[in-house]
Amino acid sequence: MRVTATTEPAASTAADTVVIGLIEGEGVPHDVGDGALGALLACGEAKASRNHLAVTRVADKRYVLVGLGARERLDDEVLRVAAATALGRLRELGSRVACWELPHKLPASAHSARAIVEGTLLAAYRFDRFKSQREEDDENGNAAAGLEALILSDHEDRSAAVARAVVVAEAVNAARDLQNTPANHMTPTALGDRAAELAATHASLSFEVHGRDGLRELGMGAFAAVAQGSDEEPALIVLRHTPPGGVEVAGPTLGYVGKAVTFDSGGISIKPSASMADMKFDMSGGAAVLEAMGAIAALELPVRVIAVIGATENLLNGGAMKPGDVITTANGLTVQVDNTDAEGRLVLADCLHHAITLGAQRLVDAATLTGAIVVALGKVHSGLFADDEAWAAEIAAAAEDAGEMVWRMPLHERYAELVKGQTADLTNSPPARTGGAVTAAEFLHRFTGDVPWAHLDIAGTAWDGGRPYAAKGGTGVLVRTFVALAERAGGAGAAAGGPAAG
Ligand code: BES
Ligand code: ZN
Ligand code: ZN
Repeated sequence: MRVTATTEPAASTAADTVVIGLIEGEGVPHDVGDGALGALLACGEAKASRNHLAVTRVADKRYVLVGLGARERLDDEVLRVAAATALGRLRELGSRVACWELPHKLPASAHSARAIVEGTLLAAYRFDRFKSQREEDDENGNAAAGLEALILSDHEDRSAAVARAVVVAEAVNAARDLQNTPANHMTPTALGDRAAELAATHASLSFEVHGRDGLRELGMGAFAAVAQGSDEEPALIVLRHTPPGGVEVAGPTLGYVGKAVTFDSGGISIKPSASMADMKFDMSGGAAVLEAMGAIAALELPVRVIAVIGATENLLNGGAMKPGDVITTANGLTVQVDNTDAEGRLVLADCLHHAITLGAQRLVDAATLTGAIVVALGKVHSGLFADDEAWAAEIAAAAEDAGEMVWRMPLHERYAELVKGQTADLTNSPPARTGGAVTAAEFLHRFTGDVPWAHLDIAGTAWDGGRPYAAKGGTGVLVRTFVALAERAGGAGAAAGGPAAG
C-alpha cells in the first residue's frame, strides 16, 4: 500500500473514499455537498460514538464517517482502532484509494498521523503464504483488489511522520511474518538469513552468525545445552547498527537481546500437546529485535545498537539435556537444569553476557519467557523488570510513546534467593511454582553485571492480541517500543514527540 501525506483538503484529492473521524459534540469538520455529512450526523445515521460507521456518497466520492468518542479520551490507540475499523469498511466497499482527514487540534503529545498509518497497515496485514487461495479472493480465484493507496490530509505537512510510520508498521508486519511462519520453515537458520538480508539492505547494519561450534568456542554452555536436543543448527545472531562516519552519535550503546526459540516442545520436561502447537511463537522476542533493527537502520537513527538474538529449537533427541544436568554459562556460573522447559533463561543468560562483551552500555531483552506472566498480566501488558530506575523510566516512556503497554514488575533479593541451586550456583526452575515471572527475571539478572538492564516478558502479548489491528496470530509486539527507545537514545525523542511529527 502506498501511503502519502497532503495538505490538500481530503475532498479535493484523487481518493475514491474519504474517511472522517467524528468527535462527540463537534459536528463534521469539513462538510461537503451543502452539509450532506452534517445531515447524516443530525439524523443519527452517523454517530460520534467510538467505531460507529456510516457511509454516504456525495458527488464523485464516498464518505466513511467513523466515531472517535469524546475528545478528552481521544489518544493514539483510539485512532489506531478507528483506522482499523474504517479499513474493514473500505475493503467491503472495494475502495482503492482512501484519504483520511486528520482530526484537528489534538495535543502535542499525540501522533495522529502515525496512529492512522499504523492502524491501517497493521489491520491490512494477512498471513496467507501457505494458502492456495486467499480468503478475500473470489470463487474463481481472482485476487481481491484491496486498498492500494492511503492519503493523509491535514492542514500541516505530515509527510515526515507518515514516512516514519510506514517504516515502523512494515517492520511490525515483518516481525508478524516471522512469528506466524511455522517452525518447520522458521528455523534458526531462516532467522539468520533474515538478519543477513537486513544487513545486505542497510549499510549501517553489520551481521555475524555463530552456529553450534561457535557457541562452544564462546563458552556458551547454557545456550548450547538447549540446542543440543535438536538436529537443527542453532544461530547466535549479532546485528550492529553503526551510524555512518560524520553522524554525531548521542547516548549510550544500546544492547537489544531477543529470545528466539523457534519451537519450544519443553524438551525432556515435555509440554502437554494442547499447549504445544502455539510454541512456534517462542521466537517472538528475537523477531521484535530483528525487525526493530531494520527499522532503526531505515530511519538512520543516530544511535549505536547491538542486537543479540539467540535462536534454537528446544527439542528432545537422544542427545538432549536432561533434568538434573549441570551446565556452565559463558560468564562462568553453573546452572542445574531442573526443568528443560525453562530453556529461555538459559539461552538469554549467554546472550545477555555476550551483549555486554560486545560493548552494550544499556541492556533490554524481550522474551516469551514464562506462563506466569500470562497469569499475572493477561494479554494486555508486557511485564517490565528493571534494575535501574532511570533505564526503567526510559523504557516505560518509549513504550508509552509507541502506544504499547508495559507494567512494572518487582525484583528483590528475596526472589533472587529462590534461583540459587543445590548442586550448582543456580537452578533454572525454582521448586515452588510461585512468582514464576519474577524468579525468571532474577535468573537473567545474574548475567547482566553492572550494566543497567531491563527485561520484557511478552509471553502474553506476543500472540493473539485481540486488538482490531492485530487480532489473531503474531502481534509484532515491542517493535514499536524498540524503535521509539532508539529514537529517544539518539536524541530524536523530543523531536519525534513534537507537534510537527503529527
Ligand atoms: N516459552 C515458555 C513460556 C510460555 C509458556 C509462553 C506458556 C507462553 C505460554 C517457556 O520456555 C516455559 O516453558 N517456561 C516455563 C518455565 C517453568 C518450567 C519454570 C513456564 O512458564 O511454565
Ligand atoms: Zn519452555
Ligand atoms: Zn520457551
